[in-house]
Amino acid sequence: MRIDILTIFPEYFISPFKYGVLARAIDKGIIKINPINLRDFTHDLHRTTDDRPYGGGEGMVMKIEPIFEALSYLQQEYDEKGLVILLTPSGKLFNQKIAYKLSKEKRLIFICGRYEGVDARVSEHLSDLELSIGDYILSGGEPAVLVVIDAIARLIPGVLGKFQSTSEESFSNGTKGLLEYPHYTRPREFMGWKVPDILLSGNHSKIAKWRKNKSLEITLKNRPELLKSLDLSEEEKELLKKIKNEQ
Ligand code: ADE
Repeated sequence: MRIDILTIFPEYFISPFKYGVLARAIDKGIIKINPINLRDFTHDLHRTTDDRPYGGGEGMVMKIEPIFEALSYLQQEYDEKGLVILLTPSGKLFNQKIAYKLSKEKRLIFICGRYEGVDARVSEHLSDLELSIGDYILSGGEPAVLVVIDAIARLIPGVLGKFQSTSEESFSNGTKGLLEYPHYTRPREFMGWKVPDILLSGNHSKIAKWRKNKSLEITLKNRPELLKSLDLSEEEKELLKKIKNEQ
């Protein structure tokens, strides 16, 4: 997958791609990251990428021209036009389902917003999708792009190792939308804190039941709203009732 990032801070993207899964994906040639400096597509002495808002108000707005020129350059440079995604707090809330969908694309072009926002004609005429990574305001789209790329890249076949699976994670199909159960590793006891005995029992069906129970418990505690939209089995509903009664 080829990933272009339109930004006024291209250097921002140097170190995050040097580590871990993303670095390996780049090394293997599965993803290619291409940060593009929007200032290279300006024509004035100060390389201006923002301006005051029409109608008045606080702050500055990112101009459309450098974005338009950068996109035109990128899209004529390559056969694959790519899906153009604008990162903005008013975008659609990014989630695992969107990550899966985007992981199938051949090319993604991200636009990082800054300041008070981006000239609305970018979303009206140039972008295919607007994404937000959460209900809070960042100082720019750059950290949001990193989040989105990380979540997408690890879903592309070949990026994770043979023994790393995404199917049992929170928000994956394998967990039916529940949050993931807790994991433990050695030592069996640390500072008096013990690993639950059941995980050392070797009884796989009991372990599976314990894990399901924990998933329900954690989801109820941290994200109760997720439970409403789940298609739980009768057994799971019973378990949930029991957990609620115990609380
Ligand atoms: N830019 C500023 N805040 C953002 C957010 N929450 N998601 C995506 N882009 C943003």
